[in-house]
Amino acid sequence: MDAPWWQRAVFYQIYPRSFASARGRPTGDLAGIEQRLDHLDWLGVDAVWLSPFYPSPMADFGYDVSDHCDVDPLFGDLGTFDRLLASCHARGLKLLVDLVPNHTSDQHAWFRAARSSRDDPQRDWYVWRDGVPGTPPNNWVAAFTGGPAWTWDDATGQWYLHQFLPQQPDLNFANPEVVEAVHGIMRFWLDRGVDGFRIDVAHGIGKDPALPDDPPESAGMPHSALNDTVETHELLRGMRKVADSYPGDRLILGEVFLLSTERVATYYGNGDELHLSFNFPPLFAPWDASRWRRQIDDATHHIVDRFGGWPTWVLSNHDNVRHRTRYGGSEARARAAVFLLLGLAGSPVLYAGEELGLEDAVIPEERRVDPGGRDGCRAPIPWDGTRDHGWGVEDAWLPWPPEADARNVAALRDDTGSILHLYQRLLAARRATTALQTGALERLDAVEGAAPGVVAWRRWDDAGAVVVVVNMGEAALVDVEGTVLVASDGMGEGEAFGGVLGADRAVLIAAR
Ligand code: NOJ
Repeated sequence: MDAPWWQRAVFYQIYPRSFASARGRPTGDLAGIEQRLDHLDWLGVDAVWLSPFYPSPMADFGYDVSDHCDVDPLFGDLGTFDRLLASCHARGLKLLVDLVPNHTSDQHAWFRAARSSRDDPQRDWYVWRDGVPGTPPNNWVAAFTGGPAWTWDDATGQWYLHQFLPQQPDLNFANPEVVEAVHGIMRFWLDRGVDGFRIDVAHGIGKDPALPDDPPESAGMPHSALNDTVETHELLRGMRKVADSYPGDRLILGEVFLLSTERVATYYGNGDELHLSFNFPPLFAPWDASRWRRQIDDATHHIVDRFGGWPTWVLSNHDNVRHRTRYGGSEARARAAVFLLLGLAGSPVLYAGEELGLEDAVIPEERRVDPGGRDGCRAPIPWDGTRDHGWGVEDAWLPWPPEADARNVAALRDDTGSILHLYQRLLAARRATTALQTGALERLDAVEGAAPGVVAWRRWDDAGAVVVVVNMGEAALVDVEGTVLVASDGMGEGEAFGGVLGADRAVLIAAR
């Protein structure tokens, strides 16, 4: 059987507020994304994941949804969405939307009803507990605030649960009406033709009915990074069935924010839960060869070997400091890092702007807006070197990222030696090399043994073999023979590999 499209695909995350504005406004919109699809075509990615664009009071910039089946006027309307989806499909791009099932906005009609009275028919759609003010039902900590994951509702005299902000009450998936309502949201978007969902906090939706305290050793850790309970798996099986009931390999890609690949792997189930799961331990691993070898082995062992799952690789997104900044700011490292994303076995997820080698923006105190401190990685994409960087407004909702005058799409397109062209060449090589998409992977212990700062692996299938070498240490001798297909510094492409790899350099080699 042919591999489903999502195993061969490279995903590209767009954070709609920050991507492009068609209306000359400080925040991006869906029509702006449609106008910029040429960039994605040229780059050579296969699928787009859109962060939320639904009606929202924006307490968490769209992850507090007040209507899951509409578009916030800030971003357009359902007609604009349909046009964007049609344009993606016309170009052969798949489109995933972000499904946020764990919680709603406190302004959602469901929560307004639930909060109106203890007797409201929708009261039980959220998680309420008796108690007294000042003593939350358990020790769970909310993300972003660091305070209790419970808020006291004075009018009705109970606590409600929120793993995130108080404005994001958790839905109660123990109630079958909630399960059905979420399936209804999925069908709404699947019927419109989306290719699947990125599921927010996929591991968080089920709750242990006893709501036990988190262990003391995890004190201070948000409960959302700890919630790992059997109830969730049945719920994901239900969501998987909804996706699988549509033709065309519709995908559910879950955000499982548990900092253990062993635990993440369990959310692939028995081939009946998530098709794909994010795996964040590699994102948090430093630029260190031994740590990365471990991450690769963990993904292979837990996800592939134990669960028959298909790994994913991601280094940046809208929640974390961009990887170039995390790795110390050097462009050479950012260039080498993309060989991990596009060379390892699994589906890569790129974050808009990493192809420009963007660093996090420096956000002055008075411009900080995110309660989770994540503004830096959400800076707007600079499209050109003009004063408004292609936005039609001189100042966007967040400050421009560093060096936007020179580090923008137009300028880097004009420079064939740029990181943008490196991404394009490596994506093209991946498209042309089935071994890189779906081939087997073996780490090259002998090569790594001779050069401790190096991570090296081989990918192969019936059509051929390639070797990827990433040097996270000092310049090293690398015993691999073959032709350089792509080099992180652009040197020697098309020539025989010379056997020496500089510090923070990477190569893709067609093996002999
Ligand atoms: C994970 C999302 O990626 C993040 O941006 C959001 O704040 C939380 N989930 C809550 O929805």
